[in-house]
Amino acid sequence: MITVRPAKQSDAAAWLQLRHALWPEGSETDHREAIDRFFGGDAREPLAVLLAEDGTGCSIGLAELSIRADAEGCHSDRVAYLEGWFVVPKARGHGVGRALVAAAEEWGRSQGCCEFASDSQRDNEVSAAAHRALGFIEVGLIRCFRKDL
Ligand SMILES: CC(C)(COP(=O)(O)OP(=O)(O)OC[C@H]1O[C@@H](n2cnc3c(N)ncnc32)[C@H](O)[C@@H]1OP(=O)(O)O)[C@@H](O)C(=O)NCCC(=O)NCCS
Repeated sequence: MITVRPAKQSDAAAWLQLRHALWPEGSETDHREAIDRFFGGDAREPLAVLLAEDGTGCSIGLAELSIRADAEGCHSDRVAYLEGWFVVPKARGHGVGRALVAAAEEWGRSQGCCEFASDSQRDNEVSAAAHRALGFIEVGLIRCFRKDL
């Protein structure tokens, strides 16, 4: 039995744990600050956070969402965007990710969006397969660069 619902202030600790597992390169302080900004109403990204719970009320997955004015392969200027998508390893392969994406799509429609987009690292084959299984179409591969100024 999986429930997907918007994150509340009391979920901060559970969200932090999931966020840190998805993006371990970020420090706990960075994640905590992002969470505080969200609950303080100051965040443009994420704009919405959905948590999946198992039958015991334990948080087992998350979807962080935003609306982007510009997204690769999209034609509209308000694209619902899956910024973060994570399910704890022991719960994978049982429809939790699918339930999160279904709820995320519902959120996007409620925001007036007619497109939903996402991205993943080029070597993340599981993510690519899961995106395709959920109806996403691959629209491009991007190389990212940086230099100090
Ligand atoms: C990607 C992720 C969120 C999927 O969550 P999940 O709960 O396992 O997904 P589901 O069980 O709902 O599966 C959704 C679809 O993806 C497919 N899928 C899931 N895992 C897969 C795998 N290992 N190989 C191939 N396809 C897979 C399933 O076939 C399913 O389609 P179906 O319902 O038609 O069978 C999860 O694997 C994860 O957290 N990975 C690590 C973080 C990550 O890579 N996030 C995405 C970054 S953009």
